[in-house]
Amino acid sequence: MRAILLGAPGAGKGTQCKRVVEKYGLLHLSSGDILRHQRAAGTELGERAKGYMDSGALVPDEIIVEMIIGTIKKASITGFILDGFPRTVSQAIELSKSLSCNSQKIDAVLNLEISDEVVAQRITGRRSCPKCGAVYHIENLKPKVDGICDKDGTELIQRPDDMAEVVANRLRTYHQQTKQVVDYYNKEDGTVYVIDANKDADEVSALICEKLDALIETRDEI
Ligand code: AP5
Repeated sequence: MRAILLGAPGAGKGTQCKRVVEKYGLLHLSSGDILRHQRAAGTELGERAKGYMDSGALVPDEIIVEMIIGTIKKASITGFILDGFPRTVSQAIELSKSLSCNSQKIDAVLNLEISDEVVAQRITGRRSCPKCGAVYHIENLKPKVDGICDKDGTELIQRPDDMAEVVANRLRTYHQQTKQVVDYYNKEDGTVYVIDANKDADEVSALICEKLDALIETRDEI
């Protein structure tokens, strides 16, 4: 299974991907998480990405494409779910080219649709674990102990790009550049599944699993 989860910043891509990988045994590839790891490790790539990320702009395609496609090649056998990539039509084209070289293709594109108002509420309340990447929300998905990661006891932080003015920029960038990726996949094979991401996390998970289960069943019949 090779799947893509699309959606605005804060739509719940990371939250849902973590659940999907647990259920289906896929590899979770989050371009944002990979970039944040690079930054934390102080690599050259992380340094180059920093300014774009902190202002809410996209990191240039050539940096991202090289980073993600290399990782995907290693993961192609087990299957994967992409989170945050592709984010431009040019990234989507590069992904298709790379997969088709190995006679592979994307099996499912799921688009988390959400209103900008809900996004703003979710992002400002998000708290993340800098160690394991677990994601919480101060009202919707609280940790057991306030401000502490359930999994490893690390103090939770607010991402630097979750400040209100950066969030506004990330949303603008999404509407200007990333929404076109949905049109690209609709034109490619017409199989973008729309998921109502305004609902609570369990309901969204159920909708995603319903689509993926149906897809797996169809493939098994073939
Ligand atoms: P990235 O890390 O990908 O950020 P994003 O797309 O803006 O997405 P987020 O991580 O903010 O949100 P999410 O959809 O995962 O939501 P989450 O599950 O956390 O990218 C960061 C930056 O890296 C970009 O701005 C760019 O600079 C760069 N970058 C990355 N990829 C790139 C690419 N391909 N090309 C170029 N540049 C790239 O949920 C949000 C909150 O809501 C959480 O608190 C969660 O607990 C809560 N929540 C989730 N679901 C629900 C629900 N259903 N109900 C209630 N609360 C919920």
